[in-house]
Amino acid sequence: GAPGPVVVAIDGPAGSGKSSVSRAVAQALGYAYLDTGASYRALSWDLLMRGIDASVAASVIAELGAFEFRIGIDPDDYYVRVGSADVTEAIREPRVTSVVSLVARIPEVRAWLNDRFRAIMASTPFDGIVVEGRDITTVVAPDAPVRILLTASEEARMARRSKELTSESAAAVGEALRSRDKADSRVVDFMNAADGVTTVDSTDLDFAQTVAAVVEVVHSQTARN
Ligand code: DC
Repeated sequence: GAPGPVVVAIDGPAGSGKSSVSRAVAQALGYAYLDTGASYRALSWDLLMRGIDASVAASVIAELGAFEFRIGIDPDDYYVRVGSADVTEAIREPRVTSVVSLVARIPEVRAWLNDRFRAIMASTPFDGIVVEGRDITTVVAPDAPVRILLTASEEARMARRSKELTSESAAAVGEALRSRDKADSRVVDFMNAADGVTTVDSTDLDFAQTVAAVVEVVHSQTARN
């Protein structure tokens, strides 16, 4: 049959610049962009709105049937919606970030979202899709022709994140980042590259250099096939 879209799978820890880099890579290649973390955040936002305790797995699973979200996969038109609410900004709030790891550790939630990610990947009208998260190279799209682990030293990640969130102190940002990565990496390993996954370390690269490095990996790995 006709070949599906080229999947570029990108994983990495919080603050690695993954989201903005992935989106810019998609723009450079004319590909779609799927931010899987935004879906975990959208579900977390929904639970907060409904007063559902994210630490009770059964309550979270019961909510999945009523949970309707939409994510824009055009890198030039990014949005996240839950029902009729535009939550593009709201899902970045600290109250959402502080419960998202509880939601992401529930296997049924992961399986449910992974089904949606695979459906989005399969039906994209773009030539390719950059899919970004924590378990894309290992679980969601282990057969993707391009698989990348985007890393940066903890110092660099904390410095970038505290520039984004000016309202919080650097120490609080660092602590929140560390504890979230610790909780998340108990569920999926995104600190070590799996077999066949190319590591791009952005510690000493600026944004444009990081985008160029990832695009270079995409070109070399798609040219091979
Ligand atoms: O990338 P992010 O910070 O927006 O992700 C939000 C949370 O979702 C993160 O704490 C871990 C979880 N996540 C996950 O478990 N698997 C993914 N593929 C993407 C995100």
